Amino acid sequence: MVVVKKQKKVQSWPKQMARNRKKRRPPTAPSIGEQKTYEKFLKQALKNKKNPKVLILGVTPELRNIALKNNCQVVSIDISQEIIKAMKTSIKYKGFKKEKVINDNWLTVPLLKNSFDLVMGDAPLTNLLSVNEVRKLLFKVRKVLKPDGFLLLRELIHLSNKKAPFKKIVSDYRKNKIKWEDFFMDLRFYTFFNKAYNPKNKLLSADKIFQEIEKKYQQGELTKKEYQRIMILESRIKNLVLFKGKFAKLLKENFSIISIKIDKEFRFSQYLPIYLLKNKK
Ligand SMILES: C[S@@+](CC[C@H](N)C(=O)[O-])C[C@H]1O[C@@H](n2cnc3c(N)ncnc32)[C@H](O)[C@@H]1O
Repeated sequence: MVVVKKQKKVQSWPKQMARNRKKRRPPTAPSIGEQKTYEKFLKQALKNKKNPKVLILGVTPELRNIALKNNCQVVSIDISQEIIKAMKTSIKYKGFKKEKVINDNWLTVPLLKNSFDLVMGDAPLTNLLSVNEVRKLLFKVRKVLKPDGFLLLRELIHLSNKKAPFKKIVSDYRKNKIKWEDFFMDLRFYTFFNKAYNPKNKLLSADKIFQEIEKKYQQGELTKKEYQRIMILESRIKNLVLFKGKFAKLLKENFSIISIKIDKEFRFSQYLPIYLLKNKK
């Protein structure tokens, strides 16, 4: 594995948070079912390709393992040196000399046009800070892909018809009607959405959400155990969140949607679908 030097910073990840990502599980990491979908779509995209070249936005170990296992040449790019270090130990196929890891910004890193058969990313776009950046990155991905190349993404979208009233989801969780991961994700992305989302810049502020969770604990509406478990995942990052229709429109500027798969194991997969997209000729 080669780590190439970094250039410019974007949203920074605190060191501790980066280190904690070693222990990450779904929803941060793709679930087993989602990994199966990634592999199925990768095979579909790379059918009949000799020595396929794959670009990964981020250093998600599950994606790198799938690409390496399928004999792809892999280039992974991440802005955070800490995350690159933290994720290194989860690579099962590190014996393969086919991976290059670049410490840089996706938006500015120079990449050769028409050079990849597939670009993959596990929720990369929600890390950007504006719709313009999403547009810029999708256009760049299209250019670095070969004309018959594919983009494969699990991405966070907002479902306008989904509701997660606080009392209802707490009660569902306590009655074991929903899993811990779904309880956390509904709280994180739906229950307090309106208090933390800025519709102008499309950014959802995690710190505002965790403040609301803190209030609920102070008011006695969450137990200490629930509160502490939620707070392990506390963060201050901002997520760019687009509504489902708007997101599909943006994708279609550069890609055709071939398949969308929503895994069944977790309910949160409804708002983290996996898209297989083909470069628009
Ligand atoms: C792509 S997502 C990967 C999350 C995925 N669910 C996981 O757990 O692997 C987050 C990663 O993107 C990186 N990142 C965010 N913005 C970036 C940018 N503009 N250029 C390169 N890397 C970026 C962050 O450092 C972080 O490691």
